[in-house]
Amino acid sequence: MAGEISFEAPRGMRDFYPSDMIWRNKVFDAFRAAAKAADFSPYDACVVESYELLARKAGEEVGEQIYHFYDKSERHLALRAEMTPTLARMVAQRQKELAFPLKWTTIAQCFRYERMTKGRKREHYQWNLDIIGEESTLAEVEVIGTAIDALRRMGLKDEDFKVHVSSRAYLGKLLSESGIAPERHTQVFLALDKRGKMPDSEIAAMLNDGGLSEQEIESTFKIMDTKGYSSCEELSDLFHLAEIAGFAQCLEFDISVIRGLSYYTGIVFECFDTKGEFRAIFGGGRYDNLLTTIGGEQTSAVGLGFGDVVVTELLKGRLGENAASVPNGIAIGFMTDSERESALRLAYRLRREGENVNLALRAQKPKKFFARSSESNAAKAIFIGPDDVAKGVARIKDLATRQEEPICL
Ligand code: HAM
Repeated sequence: MAGEISFEAPRGMRDFYPSDMIWRNKVFDAFRAAAKAADFSPYDACVVESYELLARKAGEEVGEQIYHFYDKSERHLALRAEMTPTLARMVAQRQKELAFPLKWTTIAQCFRYERMTKGRKREHYQWNLDIIGEESTLAEVEVIGTAIDALRRMGLKDEDFKVHVSSRAYLGKLLSESGIAPERHTQVFLALDKRGKMPDSEIAAMLNDGGLSEQEIESTFKIMDTKGYSSCEELSDLFHLAEIAGFAQCLEFDISVIRGLSYYTGIVFECFDTKGEFRAIFGGGRYDNLLTTIGGEQTSAVGLGFGDVVVTELLKGRLGENAASVPNGIAIGFMTDSERESALRLAYRLRREGENVNLALRAQKPKKFFARSSESNAAKAIFIGPDDVAKGVARIKDLATRQEEPICL
């Protein structure tokens, strides 16, 4: 009924007005340019998946956040909460034909019924980089290095962010050495991932529910104070290779990085802003068993997801709200309807020459035209009056320097 529909988007969902699209395009352009520079192949997939593919047995948070529904044929479907299960399904489907290692990238809209906090929405775009079929740590270097390249292309400085790195395999080894059986590790990882988000007493209770004794819980917390990683070959290798690639200064060993998804098996990482204002900018890691869990053949894989929400807020804060709009293009206006055709002809000529042209749709006073042009995305403006048509020449004005040059009509 009229008047009862809210003009707001549903809670947690976003509209993108043109002023928002300027930012979104800036971020997506950097994603695409960085992926291209490292030769990741773009792919895409359906947003709706079977619920079964996305459902979680390990009790991960994301499992409870899935938007799901039944279609008219009673199929249990869901909106993807992340791209990784879909990627695994696509790779499993063509595992015999594809040439490994694969380096794939996509920007996928994902949906999660999240508790809304700063930087977390119920819908976000997530840039994914994945390398499938490669065991070398160079794969981790390539995905992390490419994400850092994107941050730099967006205009952030190395001191604005830090990639916190650890390894589940290393943490698992430390847990095993303390007598905690490997089959309990997944539960321990998921409990420890909550550290910092809830009091340690609650984490201890979760570990206790997972079957750990008092003493094992105490050893687990002690392990979380580990500062060194030199006995972990893969982490030493990663830091060494990152040094050569020129981004070791952006990395930091941090045993508390675990990740909330159960499929990770090796190196895991999360990138944060250095001021600690936001939740993770991107996160990922090695997941060697995901394909087998959905019925494919065992394949080594590493990848990351990089959302658009946090990085856009961070960029606005660091660079300024208006930093994304770089004036370019030419605005063309005309005084009376007698100049309309000259303006139209000029606009199409300049567009054919490769210029971006915003042609006024109706006659207007010069003052109004120049005021609107200055507020728009135009760098230059041409206003055509009766005298200009008579002479066959108008003037093109640089809106920043106010300098004018003649231009033939
Ligand atoms: P994730 O840590 O759940 O990992 O999400 C990756 C990134 O997506 C986060 O660091 C954040 O930037 C963004 N993100 C996640 N949820 C939200 C939300 N509700 N609102 C805004 N942004 C969000 C994954 O999804 C893995 N599948 C990544 C991956 C790819 N691992 C291997 N390959």
